[in-house]
Amino acid sequence: MTKKPTAKKSVKEKTASKYKYNNVLVEQRKDGITFLILNRPEKRNAMSPELHHEMDDALERLAVDSNTKVLILTGAGKAFCAGQDLKTYFRGLSNDPVARSRAAAASESWRSYRLIGFPKPTIAMVNGFVFGGGLTPIVSCDVAIASHTAKFGISEINWGHIPGGLVGWNVNQVMSFRDAMWYSISGDTFNGKEAAAMKFVNFSVSHAKLKSETLKIARKLLKKNPWAIRYTKEAIRSVRDMNMEQAADYLRCKSDALQRVDKEQGRQEGMRQFLDEKSFRPGVGTYNRKK
Ligand code: ACO
Repeated sequence: MTKKPTAKKSVKEKTASKYKYNNVLVEQRKDGITFLILNRPEKRNAMSPELHHEMDDALERLAVDSNTKVLILTGAGKAFCAGQDLKTYFRGLSNDPVARSRAAAASESWRSYRLIGFPKPTIAMVNGFVFGGGLTPIVSCDVAIASHTAKFGISEINWGHIPGGLVGWNVNQVMSFRDAMWYSISGDTFNGKEAAAMKFVNFSVSHAKLKSETLKIARKLLKKNPWAIRYTKEAIRSVRDMNMEQAADYLRCKSDALQRVDKEQGRQEGMRQFLDEKSFRPGVGTYNRKK
């Protein structure tokens, strides 16, 4: 009997995952790139208490999952994240202080501590609407890329609230004081192109190219020495609030620590390939990690 030609592998087969949640989708690709997707498209990925608990759990597990080497955070459907779920997070928990306190802890944990402390590179892929508390995880990611047409807003003022949680602090981390103030008091929206111009995100691309351009960034980061990239991202964040002497001391210690943890001894290998072998130039490329 002649065999039927096998169909092209579907994206699903390439992205099978053992992680199962109700509000979050985890797609682990074979190349080590993992998509972590806020998955309440019908509610524009507004963050319910359950979503917070699931995101907290997923990030805790993916941080130590050797199949995840670069993480891409995005939203299903036409939104990245419409902020806190005003119905289930605010109104729904207003008479349940214990559940409210637990949801608030999970909310801060995943959007700030777990994402900032994630030991591998993180990329926010902003595909659509993002408001209020939805901005926080973007700021916590190492890199951010947006569709030109994504719509951002610090919208709290529009419903008589302040950019609480950590939003007021977050926007000041990456926006100029003028932009942070203006968008916070006006509630005006800005698009992906404008977000890139004001450096709220690194890059803005056409919506059609958003995924492929994000994957290009992920693949670039995948090529780097994973211990060096972890220590670099930690160092770049940490030194922001230090004075020069503290930063010099911290960076010296961090640099020494890297030599101890780096299983492929990249510094020595990089120098060997450049100085002895003359097989690459560190100014314009990465050493060959397979040698
Ligand atoms: N909280 C609760 N439900 C929400 C939220 C939210 N933040 N955002 C969207 N939804 C729900 C809507 O109530 C609606 O539910 P329903 O179908 O049961 O009626 C569904 O998601 C779809 O929303 P629409 O408004 O119909 O979708 P549309 O595409 O027209 O608009 C938009 C999308 C612009 C995001 C709009 O939903 C919106 O303004 N949402 C609120 C954004 C916001 O300001 N969030 C709070 C930020 S402040 C903070 O996070 C603390």
